[in-house]
Amino acid sequence: MTHTLAFGMVGSGRIAQSYAQAFEDCEAAKLVAVADIRPEAARAMAEGFGCQSYASHEAMFEGTQLDAVVICTPPATHVDLCTYFLQREIHVLCEKPLSIDLDSARRIASTAEEVGVCLTMASKFRYVEDVRRAKSIVMSGILGDIILFENAFTSRVDMTSRWNSDPQISGGGVLIDNGTHSVDLMRYFLGPLAEVNVVEGKRSQGLAVEETVRIFVRSISGIMGSIDLSWSINKELDSYINIYGSHGTISVGWMESKYRQSSSRDWVIFGKGYNKLQAFASQIDNFSKAIRGEAMLLITAEDALASVEVIETAYAALRQNHWTAVGCAFADIQMPDRPSSPLIGQAV
Ligand SMILES: NC(=O)c1ccc[n+]([C@@H]2O[C@H](COP(=O)([O-])OP(=O)(O)OC[C@H]3O[C@@H](n4cnc5c(N)ncnc54)[C@H](O)[C@@H]3O)[C@@H](O)[C@H]2O)c1
Repeated sequence: MTHTLAFGMVGSGRIAQSYAQAFEDCEAAKLVAVADIRPEAARAMAEGFGCQSYASHEAMFEGTQLDAVVICTPPATHVDLCTYFLQREIHVLCEKPLSIDLDSARRIASTAEEVGVCLTMASKFRYVEDVRRAKSIVMSGILGDIILFENAFTSRVDMTSRWNSDPQISGGGVLIDNGTHSVDLMRYFLGPLAEVNVVEGKRSQGLAVEETVRIFVRSISGIMGSIDLSWSINKELDSYINIYGSHGTISVGWMESKYRQSSSRDWVIFGKGYNKLQAFASQIDNFSKAIRGEAMLLITAEDALASVEVIETAYAALRQNHWTAVGCAFADIQMPDRPSSPLIGQAV
């Protein structure tokens, strides 16, 4: 019988709650410990989910036999926490963004490569069933040549007293926070991105960082895309991805997903919408199978680095106010022999 992987979690804040629930639906993995610098928060989570609690990640490593960890702390802490566990041969699933800049993200990826353990960046939308089905439909060719990709993640969130608007901790504003999801999704559907441009909207919360942005992207394969991100407005859209091809349109929605070929009057519904718990459980399942050598990671270390690089390029574009080319984030790192996006070009 295969042994259930023992997971620790660092951070017991907002997103950690979703992981703790998702672990309850996983056969391959079990949450055995949680660490937080707020020991009372770690204790409360441990009591609720039947695991050990610790006041630091070091104490958790010393006190528990772990196979893997999930890093659920603010972005500026990721580099130290990831490298600590990777150097001790513990597999790491790190919440997005992998880090707040490319140099530190490279340090994380090269440590994983040197030690030979699995590293992935959490980006939950890739694990949503409708997203994976949409990819399969796009790849089948029934929508013709893909010409335009649109994504929007907008909702009003008061960020005045959260770390998300402190650039020392978050690395920036809504562009790095929600934008990391967007860039990962865009790369999943379109492959590598060639160039970006960014326009910023008004700051209605008076934050020190951008609250609303529109990002323009062109992929290497010549597809154009746009992304709307905001903490200050809600576009009240039913869908978060719309892809337009020469023979049809596909829409991935919060409550349902559908496509229409231009030869038909009818929309075909292919999915029931966004299910957060399913996405988190599927993310843990893919990571666990990759650790056991039973599956490819859906989001590889190269994908994670590429996301950080596109976000860094987007900030450069915003500062300079012009289209900016995306470079090659991992040119000087020897990565294992793996395709950068295993599912690009394949039906899923
Ligand atoms: N996938 C998603 O949809 C999603 C949503 C929200 C947040 N996130 C990401 O998850 C991460 C955490 O965000 P959050 O909203 O849960 O933050 P949060 O502030 O709610 O929780 C973070 C927790 O980490 C703890 N912490 C901070 N530094 C620590 C350290 N060195 N060691 C141990 N614990 C430490 C804090 O005390 C806090 O309890 C971020 O990277 C964020 O971008 C992802």
